[in-house]
Amino acid sequence: MTNGIRIDTAQFPVARPRRLRTSAALRRLVSDVRVAPADLVLPMFVKEGIGGPAPIASMPGVVQHTRDSLRKAAAEAVDAGVGGVILFGIPAVKDGRGSSADDPAGIVQLAIADLVAEVGDQCVVMADLCLDEYTDHGHCGLLTAAGEVDNDATLERYASIAVAQARAGVGVVAPSGMMDGQVGAIRAALDGAGFGSVPILAYSAKYASGFYGPFRDAAECAPQFGDRSAYQQDPARSAGEALREVALDLAEGADAVMVKPALAYLDVLRAVADAVDVPVAAYQVSGEYAMVEAAAANGWIDRERVIDETLIAVRRAGADIILTYWATEVARRLR
Ligand code: PBG
Repeated sequence: MTNGIRIDTAQFPVARPRRLRTSAALRRLVSDVRVAPADLVLPMFVKEGIGGPAPIASMPGVVQHTRDSLRKAAAEAVDAGVGGVILFGIPAVKDGRGSSADDPAGIVQLAIADLVAEVGDQCVVMADLCLDEYTDHGHCGLLTAAGEVDNDATLERYASIAVAQARAGVGVVAPSGMMDGQVGAIRAALDGAGFGSVPILAYSAKYASGFYGPFRDAAECAPQFGDRSAYQQDPARSAGEALREVALDLAEGADAVMVKPALAYLDVLRAVADAVDVPVAAYQVSGEYAMVEAAAANGWIDRERVIDETLIAVRRAGADIILTYWATEVARRLR
C-alpha cells in the first residue's frame, strides 16, 4: 500500500451473502417465495362420447376425461388441496357456431354440474369460456363469409355461453377468446340473467403462442385454416399492450386477470402484477408442460426440481394463482 493505509478486513463487516445459504434450515427460514396448494388450478379436459379416459400423446400424464373419470380426478385434486379446477369440453359434434358450447345438455355444462355436486364446496369450479373447442373450423369466434373472425357477432355467443355455464352452476367463468369487449358483454349477460355474483377471470393478456400446440391435440381445436394472430397478442410487443388489455378488462368488469403463457412472459406478468390490485393468474400452458416432460423422459433434466422451479419463477414474477397441469402432483408434494 503506497499511501500506508492497510485494510484490515477483520474490522469491517464484509458482505457475505453466502452466510444465509449454509444450511437447509437457514435457506428454508429465509425463503420468501412459496407456492401453496390453494393457489393452484388444475385444467381438465372432458370429452363427450368416449368409453374411458383417452391419453393425450403430446401431454404424457394428461387425459381427456369421461364424465366419470373427471369426477374422480377432481376429487383427487381436491384431496391434494388444489384451489380450483378449470374445465374444457370437447363435444362429439362440432359446427360453425359451436352450438354445444351453450347447449344446456352440452358436455361442458353437464361436467360443470357434476363437479359442482362432487367438489363444489371444496374448490372453485371454473370453466374456460371460448368457442374453439366447439367450432368445426377451430377458431375462437364466428366467421364472416370472408373467413375472418367476426368480433361483435362472437360477443353474442360468448354472452350466451356465460349464461349457460352459470345455469350449470359454474363458480367462475374464464373468457379466453381475446375478442374486444368480451368481458363487458359477458358481465352484462350474467347480470341480466340474475348471475351478478359469478366472477369473471379474464384471460386478459393472452399471446399468440406456439406453446399451445399440445393443447390443440387435447381439445381437438387446431384452427383448420390460418392461426390466431389476428386476435391473440403478438409476442413481439412489449408489456404496455398487455397493460392496456388488462385495463380494458377491468373497466369492463373483470374480477381477476390472467397472463398466458407463463414462463416466456414473466416480464408481462410482473408488469401486470405491479399495476393492478385484483388477483393475477398465470397459465403454465400445455407446451410448457410438454417441454419439461419430454426432457425429463429423456433423463436430461431433474423433473420434479424443474417443475418446482418453474412454479416458483411464476410466483416470483407476481402470480397469485397458477393454472398448471401439474397441480395435483405439486399440491401433494407440498403437503
Ligand atoms: C382457447 C384456449 C387455448 C388454451 C386455453 N384456452 C388454446 C388457444 O388459444 O389456442 C391453451 C391452453 C394450453 O396450451 O395449455 N379456448
